[in-house]
Amino acid sequence: MSQTVPVPHGLPMERDASPFDPPRQVTRLREARPVSPLVFPDGHEGWLVTGYDAVRQVMADTRFSSRLDIGVVHVPYETPGMPVQTEPSPQIPGMFIAMDPPDHGRLRKRLTGAFTVKRMKMLEEHINEITERQLDHLARLTPPVDLVAEFALPVPSLVICELLGVPYADRETFQVNSAKFMVRDQRLDEKMAAYGALTGYLADLVTRKRAEPGDDILSDLASHDDLTVEELTGAAFLLLLAGHETTANMLALGAFALLENPEQLAALRADPDLVRDAVEEILRYLSVADVFLRYATEDIELGGETIGKGSTVVVSLLAANHDPQRFDDPDTLDVHRKARGHLAFGHGVHQCLGQQLARIEMRAGFDGLLRRFPTLKLAVPAGEVKLRTDMNIYGVHELPVTWTDTAR
Ligand code: HEM
Repeated sequence: MSQTVPVPHGLPMERDASPFDPPRQVTRLREARPVSPLVFPDGHEGWLVTGYDAVRQVMADTRFSSRLDIGVVHVPYETPGMPVQTEPSPQIPGMFIAMDPPDHGRLRKRLTGAFTVKRMKMLEEHINEITERQLDHLARLTPPVDLVAEFALPVPSLVICELLGVPYADRETFQVNSAKFMVRDQRLDEKMAAYGALTGYLADLVTRKRAEPGDDILSDLASHDDLTVEELTGAAFLLLLAGHETTANMLALGAFALLENPEQLAALRADPDLVRDAVEEILRYLSVADVFLRYATEDIELGGETIGKGSTVVVSLLAANHDPQRFDDPDTLDVHRKARGHLAFGHGVHQCLGQQLARIEMRAGFDGLLRRFPTLKLAVPAGEVKLRTDMNIYGVHELPVTWTDTAR
C-alpha cells in the first residue's frame, strides 16, 4: 500500500485547528484523498474515511461489520495491553451496537418501540420539567460554577436513569466506572475492573427487574423470556452509557461553542424558534461521537479505492460533517443552517436509537439555559477550558461559567 498516512496521536486525533473543527491533518486528508490508507500505531494497515459520501456509504453497507467496535464504549486499539483488532471480536451479549444483522436486529427491535418519535413526544413535557428543575438548582448557586457538573451531566443522567429505571442515587457507581472505562489510555486491567463493576451492578438490577418489574424500559426488556440476563445486562450498559455521556458533552461543548460565537448566540436568543435548526447545526458542527470502526468482510469498492477483505476501516463523522462538498462553509457555526442530513447520529442500521430523546434534551437544555441566564458567559479565558480529548466522546471536562442576572 503506497502513501499510507500514520496515525499521529491515536484516534480521535486532537482538534488542533480550534476546539471545534476537525484536526488539520484530517481536513488535509479529506481534500487529498477522502478514502486514505492508514497505518495504526502497531504497524497494521487500514483505511481512514473522511469524505461525507464515503462515510455515509460505509455506515449504510453492512458488509462493513460493526463487530470490531463496541461504539461509544469501544476498547480502542491503543489501550495499553489491548491486542490489535484485526478480526471480528466475539460478540458481547446484548451490546447490539457491535453486532451485525441479524443478531443486531433481534435486540434492537425490542427497543425501537420505547424510543419512537411518538413516545418521545409524550415524554417531552416531563423532560422539560426535569431541565427546568436543574436550571432552578443552577440559578440558586453563586457563580462561577461548573456547567458540566451542575447542568450538562445531571440533565441527561436524570432522564436516562428514569427512563431505564436505574436509581439516580447510584450514579456515582456508574459514572466513575464509565469514566474509567472510557478513558483511552487507562490500563486494560483497570478498564476491565471498571467494566466488571458496572456489569455486576447492572446484572443485579436487571435480575431484580425480571422478578419485580417496574414501569420502565429495562423492566419491559426483562419481560422477554428469550433474552438472557447477560443480554439484558449488555443492553442496559449500552443504553446507560450512550444515553448520558453523549448528550452531556453536547450540552456542555454546545454551550461553549455558542459562547464563542456571540452573534449566533444572539440570533438564537432573539428567536427561540430557531432552536430546532440550531440543535441540528450544533450536532453537525461538534460531532462529539466522532470516530467509529468497521471491518471489511469482503473486498469493497469505496471512493475509487478497493478496501481489501479484513481491513479495519476508521470513519470520522466530524470530518464528514465538515465536508465542503456537502455543507457550505462547514467550519462556521450557523444556527440558521438547515443541517439535516448530517451524520452526527450515524447512518444505516446502527443509526442512533436515542436520537429523538437527545434532540428533546438539547432543545430543552439550550432553550432553557439561554432564557434563564441572559448574561451567561465563560468564567475563564476560552484557552483555559479543559477539553476532553482522552475519551472517545469529545467534549469538555469542566465549563466554568458566570452570570449577573437570571430570569424565568
Ligand atoms: C448509536 C451518536 C445520544 C443510544 C449511535 C451512533 C452514533 C450516536 C454516531 C452510531 C454508532 C455506530 O454506527 O456504530 C449519539 C449522539 C448523541 C446520542 C451524538 C447525543 C447528542 C444517545 C442517547 C441514547 C443513545 C440519548 C439513549 C438511549 C444509542 C444506541 C446506539 C446508538 C443504543 C446503538 C444503536 C444500534 O447499534 O442499533 N449514537 N448518540 N444515543 N446510540 Fe446514540
